[in-house]
Amino acid sequence: MELPELGTNLLQHVPPRWISVAERYLKRVPVLRERLAKETDTMLAGLEGDLKPYRGQVPTHAQLPAQGLPREQVLREMGVMETREHERWKEGFVSGAVYHGDSEHIDFLNQVYALNSQSNPLHADLWPSATKFEAEVVAMTANMLGAAEANAGRPPEAHVCGSLSSGGTESILLAMKTYRDQAREERGITRPEMVAPASAHPAFEKAAHYFGIHMVRVPVGPDYRADVDAMRKAINRNTIVVIGSAPSFPHGVIDPIEQLSELARERGIGFHTDACLGGFVLPWARKLGYPVPDFDFRLPGVTSMSADTHKFGYAAKGTSVVLYRGSALRSHQYFTSTEWSGGIYFSPTFAGSRPGALIAAAWASLVSTGEAGYLESTRRILETADVLKRGIRAIPELYVLGEPLFVIAFGARGLDIYQVMERMGAKGWNLNGLHKPAAVHLCVTLRHTQPGVAERFLEDLKGAVEYVRAHPSDKGTMAPVYGLAATVPFRGLVSDLLKKYMDLISKV
Ligand SMILES: Cc1ncc(COP(=O)(O)O)c(C=O)c1O
Repeated sequence: MELPELGTNLLQHVPPRWISVAERYLKRVPVLRERLAKETDTMLAGLEGDLKPYRGQVPTHAQLPAQGLPREQVLREMGVMETREHERWKEGFVSGAVYHGDSEHIDFLNQVYALNSQSNPLHADLWPSATKFEAEVVAMTANMLGAAEANAGRPPEAHVCGSLSSGGTESILLAMKTYRDQAREERGITRPEMVAPASAHPAFEKAAHYFGIHMVRVPVGPDYRADVDAMRKAINRNTIVVIGSAPSFPHGVIDPIEQLSELARERGIGFHTDACLGGFVLPWARKLGYPVPDFDFRLPGVTSMSADTHKFGYAAKGTSVVLYRGSALRSHQYFTSTEWSGGIYFSPTFAGSRPGALIAAAWASLVSTGEAGYLESTRRILETADVLKRGIRAIPELYVLGEPLFVIAFGARGLDIYQVMERMGAKGWNLNGLHKPAAVHLCVTLRHTQPGVAERFLEDLKGAVEYVRAHPSDKGTMAPVYGLAATVPFRGLVSDLLKKYMDLISKV
């Protein structure tokens, strides 16, 4: 799998199209194909133990048990795994993932789930409570994100509206499908394109892949924010939407949404602010006096947004809000069927039946936290993030990428940052590996605001850097895997490897 370094460097100067043609030919050579398959299998076999830790420890059920298991046994089996898994996130060792995590909050959400576990908003007549919760979550989120100002003096159909989806990815998929259908219907565009900074979440790429949209990824500037001039040049008459993040997942920086959304508005096209990560943080950060540029519906060019209730909205996993400026735009998201023998059918999002209990939990999280709760949580998160940024910057070998608020990406000078990440892993920390450039990040959540967590992180990070400096040739197990994607120019190879990895994950 490893390419000689010289070869890798040389290949970086070859146009990507040539490389992919070369790759296709090389993969047809039987000896090479077999060698590759063998190397991939060996690499994946090395990961299997870590991915399947319960084999041999709790019973495996690949077939239905002949007789149903006693409920106590089922709960016991689950309890073993839950106990093992909750410690890391509970103690604040994990980047992002669990955004609140206090026991009382979780117990409350679980009670809400139990009350609503049978509810399904597909049957609005049976569970009007679910549609009430959904409409109110959307309205509360919209108002938090500038809808009151945007709606003032405008007719109801021009007001900000939206839907609840299953997560950030679905919100983004829905918005992109909406723009595709709008552009086809209203402007006759049959070869749609979206223009996004390179840092935009892969959910946009997924949307492009699913919906036949060409995604133009534009390199970001030296501050890791979208480069407005380069984005302007990438827009053409097939562009249906321009994208910006507030903030971006990799480096946690906020794109220049005002300038980007104006580019779109001047050309009469849509602009989507991806606030999946920041939607429930930035409004409060701004109230607390942190430097937060405009990013929401207060900007006239912003026509849609995504904001995740299941991240910093502190809801249970499985909900996000997608918002649109006006119901005419949202109507392109909807699906209706009038000819089916099962009767007339309609559904606003991708799923048919939807978990009313998760919608109820999102509603309960929002109303029980309230403005004061979000403000206080954001204060704690940003203060902790400030401590962490200062501490990371004080380690001479490390540097923070850009000017982030609460997602802190850092790289290393003169040592391998992935090895630092690996050493941190050995101490229990679960950080996100980034590439292009090589870096890691920590998304600060309420878990990190517990006493002592930030100090422990910085202490361990110093130790990890010292270790890697003293042992530069230690390869570790995961560090080469992270380095691989950035150095292997054959994207198809990396993609094949990831598909095999997913096969492995889905094995019993
Ligand atoms: C900026 C941004 N957009 C979109 C997403 C996708 O969200 P989800 O994982 O809920 O689908 C994420 C996830 O971290 C994100 O950070």
